[in-house]
Amino acid sequence: MSSFNDASSNGGSNPSSTKGKIITCKAAVVRGPKQPFVIEQIQVHPPQKMEVRIKILYTSICHSDLSCWIAENEAQRVYPRIFGHEAAGIVESVGEGVTDMKEGDHVVPIFNGECGDCSYCKSTKTNLCEKNRVNPYKSVMLNDGKTRFSTLDGKPIYHFLNTSTFTEYTVLDSANVVKVDSEASLKKMSLLSCGVSTGVGAAWNTANVQAGSTVAVFGLGAVGLAVAEGSRSRGASRIIGVDINNEKFIKGQAVGVTDFINPMDLKQPVHEKISEITGGGVDYSFECAGNLDVLREAFLSAHDGWGLTVVLGIHTSPTTLPLHPMELFNGRSIVGSTFGDFKGKSQLPHFAQQCMNGVVNLDGFITHELPFSEINEAFQLLIDGKSLRCLLQL
Ligand SMILES: NC(=O)c1ccc[n+]([C@@H]2O[C@H](COP(=O)([O-])OP(=O)(O)OC[C@H]3O[C@@H](n4cnc5c(N)ncnc54)[C@H](O)[C@@H]3O)[C@@H](O)[C@H]2O)c1
Ligand SMILES: [Zn+2]
Ligand SMILES: [Zn+2]
Repeated sequence: MSSFNDASSNGGSNPSSTKGKIITCKAAVVRGPKQPFVIEQIQVHPPQKMEVRIKILYTSICHSDLSCWIAENEAQRVYPRIFGHEAAGIVESVGEGVTDMKEGDHVVPIFNGECGDCSYCKSTKTNLCEKNRVNPYKSVMLNDGKTRFSTLDGKPIYHFLNTSTFTEYTVLDSANVVKVDSEASLKKMSLLSCGVSTGVGAAWNTANVQAGSTVAVFGLGAVGLAVAEGSRSRGASRIIGVDINNEKFIKGQAVGVTDFINPMDLKQPVHEKISEITGGGVDYSFECAGNLDVLREAFLSAHDGWGLTVVLGIHTSPTTLPLHPMELFNGRSIVGSTFGDFKGKSQLPHFAQQCMNGVVNLDGFITHELPFSEINEAFQLLIDGKSLRCLLQL
């Protein structure tokens, strides 16, 4: 197999010896807003009914981890806690009732789960599950309201975003775990756990970008660049990348960005510039920076009459949309996208196959690799705008 397969080197645990038992392992634990990640020994309890315990082999850092670590939103402050949601690993053991996965399967966690049974999962109109959807306020397991992590002296350590991947072992609801082809590179599969699926899915599923159309992407991190890659793969004729960091422009070229705008270099608002160069605005604009001013610029960059703005950035402050309702009568529309509107469990395996077949090019998204012990340095790389995804090897 090609370089797409890197899994053979890492068998992970010996499940038969750990199944049903508490595992003591290393995790990066945070004890307060913006407090450093401390690698310490923790206990990971066995999976309960419809839960899965997985050995994390690779995890990386998404801007949503950064926002929740900063914890501007007080309601999200729960400690001690294990962050992390973008990862790939191997099933160590499954709880009662889990039939779609077994020990040794290669898997990726999904923060926006799919139980398959609820009215939401059965609807084609949403990828949100009634119980296992993304929820930044949730910090315990659904089954019993307890944690599966504890300190060595038995105190609870809380979960994050249905996943918690900054640990050698984690426990998730099976609805939040997707089995992937064992031939696929687990390093690359970790990208599908959040950033790349979110961005590509926003272009394919949420916006349904058409061949020949024009696109503007605001914020060229992994999510924004994945939007560009998704738009390129759909045959967009022009992809305008907007970022305040010029270094991101080089990355953008590789995923089909045709024009770059650094708002700091302009004397006019970005939307005026985009309107000038496109003859009235783009067909689709995407906000991937998590900034309300940027969101307004993205909205006004969409073409009068039909332009669509997709909101991907997470806004942690309690501020509301910067739009006057009458502005919606100009024919522009705006929609949010969670996990690129992919239904994780039913659609990700096919998406993974498409990535392996080269429909989407995953090269270039992993810009750095570090050992797990250097997690604080990895966070700093994202804060400094130097990395897209820094893969931590556990
Ligand atoms: N909706 C979802 O399901 C979902 C999933 C993953 C991430 N997110 C969110 O998407 C956003 C992007 O995530 P990421 O991991 O790619 O982050 P990132 O930090 O890698 O990228 C953000 C980019 O925005 C740029 N930026 C910042 N301020 C800007 C401004 N004023 N104008 C233009 N560009 C600006 C930065 O330079 C950076 O390149 C975050 O808000 C994250 O929380 C949402
Ligand atoms: Zn994420
Ligand atoms: Zn459901």
